[in-house]
Amino acid sequence: MDDLYRENILDHYRHPRNYGEIEQATIVQHEHNPLCGDQLSIYLLVENERIVDVKFKGKGCAISQASASMLSEELAGKSVDEAKAFDKQTILDLLGIPIGPVRLKCALLSLKTLKAGLYGVNLVDDDEDSL
Ligand code: FES
Ligand code: FES
Repeated sequence: MDDLYRENILDHYRHPRNYGEIEQATIVQHEHNPLCGDQLSIYLLVENERIVDVKFKGKGCAISQASASMLSEELAGKSVDEAKAFDKQTILDLLGIPIGPVRLKCALLSLKTLKAGLYGVNLVDDDEDSL
């Protein structure tokens, strides 16, 4: 079963969904993983409290980029409040494989970037527990 999830992660990494920028984005947020320097930018177009378009750009490991790609698919069409309710478990469920402590920062880079964008704040680096 894990194999299917691994395949899916690699597929998202190789063919990221919603990759790019939104010129007229309502929210643009850039974050990085201080451990490795991997980067992620998320662009959200919000209309009437709903996310009508989402794109991301980044450079990094398979887990970080796949999680951003999967998250982008989940976000499309959601209300801002629904997006704010996304948490660590949302990401782990999307990835679907056990994520050890070393990879957790990779997995949660997308969520950290999303939350920082939605709340307009930068979360401190060791704040995964609050996600
Ligand atoms: Fe290698 Fe995150 S994937 S440290
Ligand atoms: Fe940098 Fe995974 S190794 S985010």
